[in-house]
Amino acid sequence: MSHTQPGILLDNPPLARFLSFTLHNTEALEHCLRELAAMADGERIVVGLGPSLLKALEREIPGLRDFPVISTAGLDIPSTPASLWCWLRGEDRGELFHDSRLVESLLSEAFSLGDCIDSFKYTPINRDLSGYEDGTENPKGDEAIEAAVVQGQGAGLDGSSFVAVQQWLHDFDALDEMETRETDDLIGRHLDDNEEFDEAPPSAHVKRAAQESFDPEAFILRHSMPWAEDLQGGLVFVAFGKSLDAFEAILRRMCGLEDGIQDGLFRFTRPLTGAYFWCPPVRDGKLDLSALGL
Ligand code: HEM
Repeated sequence: MSHTQPGILLDNPPLARFLSFTLHNTEALEHCLRELAAMADGERIVVGLGPSLLKALEREIPGLRDFPVISTAGLDIPSTPASLWCWLRGEDRGELFHDSRLVESLLSEAFSLGDCIDSFKYTPINRDLSGYEDGTENPKGDEAIEAAVVQGQGAGLDGSSFVAVQQWLHDFDALDEMETRETDDLIGRHLDDNEEFDEAPPSAHVKRAAQESFDPEAFILRHSMPWAEDLQGGLVFVAFGKSLDAFEAILRRMCGLEDGIQDGLFRFTRPLTGAYFWCPPVRDGKLDLSALGL
């Protein structure tokens, strides 16, 4: 899919930085977006635009909406929207540092930097910091495109994608207190060989999230990456979709909103943030913002 920001369809990089911004000066918005569009190639920098940014431009992208707040038995899922999101992808921490400074200064007339999260690949097989391999059931090739890319909606929209982003904080003491067979039951896969097993309880994450078990099927393209700072850490959960419906259906079931059964994951991790963005297509190596009249 030549018009999709390439980073969305590539494997996770060894290192990344996730930046989110709030808008403080609407007058400088169009100018800053044009500058960003020329700089962001969609590969080293994947960009997402939030609902408040589109409102400031008085534009609508069909399907982009606010991240839902979910409050249910003992569980609060926060919604922490931002105007703009950048996923800086790379191999060198120094380069990522300088790229973030460049993006921040290019945007500073209109945007203030909010979160800046350093992320990394944990082992070449993309482990979550709990030790479990993450991304095994991601759709691949044409199926990844089908799951993650907007198609058939016309120029300016085709090739774009939606993304759900949540920073999760793990409770490593809780994990340490559990035997591996208990954590295997929370995930529904064996830590040692990554095999899925039938006897896992219905609360097991992979049973809650089984993409083909939804109607319609809920395929998403996950690009989550671990984060760590001092002695705290967790996962930056990142899921691209041709719409936000599949992600939201899975999240609702994980929270027990369908049948009262909550996902085993919540025994050791909780989201601190949650936001939705629209990731514009690219044209000639630049972001294509024609859907916004830019
Ligand atoms: C800290 C939070 C999370 C962790 C540590 C985590 C970890 C994992 C792991 C280890 C797997 C099994 C391997 C794989 O197929 O990737 C998995 C599968 C999956 N997860 Fe998560 N996950 C988290 C949050 C979420 C969220 C919020 C969603 C969506 C709302 C989600 C959706 C999925 C899906 C769709 C699968 C594949 C299920 C299948 O079809 O077999 N995960 N996750």
